[in-house]
Amino acid sequence: MSSLEDEFPDVISKAMLGHGIDTAILAAKTEATPAAITSLLDGEMDAPTVSLISPALGLGPAALISLPSYLPEPLAIEGIRRIEVPFGQWMVNAWLIEKDGTTLLFDTGHRPNDVFENLHGTSPEAVFITHDHPDHIGGVDTLRKKGLTIINETEALNREKFTYGSLTITATDLSGHKTPTAGYFIEGMGEKILISGDAIFAGSIGRCQNPAALQTAFDNLHRVLTQAGDDCIILPGHGPATTVAQERASNPFIATAKYLH
Ligand SMILES: [Fe+2]
Repeated sequence: MSSLEDEFPDVISKAMLGHGIDTAILAAKTEATPAAITSLLDGEMDAPTVSLISPALGLGPAALISLPSYLPEPLAIEGIRRIEVPFGQWMVNAWLIEKDGTTLLFDTGHRPNDVFENLHGTSPEAVFITHDHPDHIGGVDTLRKKGLTIINETEALNREKFTYGSLTITATDLSGHKTPTAGYFIEGMGEKILISGDAIFAGSIGRCQNPAALQTAFDNLHRVLTQAGDDCIILPGHGPATTVAQERASNPFIATAKYLH
């Protein structure tokens, strides 16, 4: 069974980093004590403290309190395969999309050969990259040597639209966690699909190093998720697949009154 990429203390620390707020500042801005915040960051859930700090961090308190029991509905769509491979002590996804004999790969894992070995002889028409963090591009050299076409995030954002068989790929800017980042809308699978890289995970977002990066991430997410619509399936760079509707309800970064509603 797949678990979420981030637990609730990770979400809180990512929000603190993104807003440029440390424990002392967060305590000064809210009614929460430094000790209570430290305890939360150590993994002790305390709903009253979450409610006190959430507004200052732009997080939805109900979603944050419920995060330990959140897992999106399992996705089972023919032609979508998650290739989950190791990245140090963690895991990272690549996604293989197949329709009517056309196969596309999104991201390439961390270790050079992991994703190639998981293709089991399938030869994708193209390999799209979301962003150039090492855990997403580790397999690029291997796949290029095998003769595959690599389309990186900059090239994808410049060209924007790609057609392979009955699949249409539209690149869209999801910068913030890493700039540039390309997200990819996929049409032709029956359901609308978004490859999100690390811009959004089930229950969290990719780490943003400062307030400007976080603002960029939110601006792009707002645009892309609105365009996607609630039924859109999200295939993220880490953790399980989800949908826009489930993230609007359960992702503490998204499930806020002032944000996407
Ligand atoms: Fe990343």
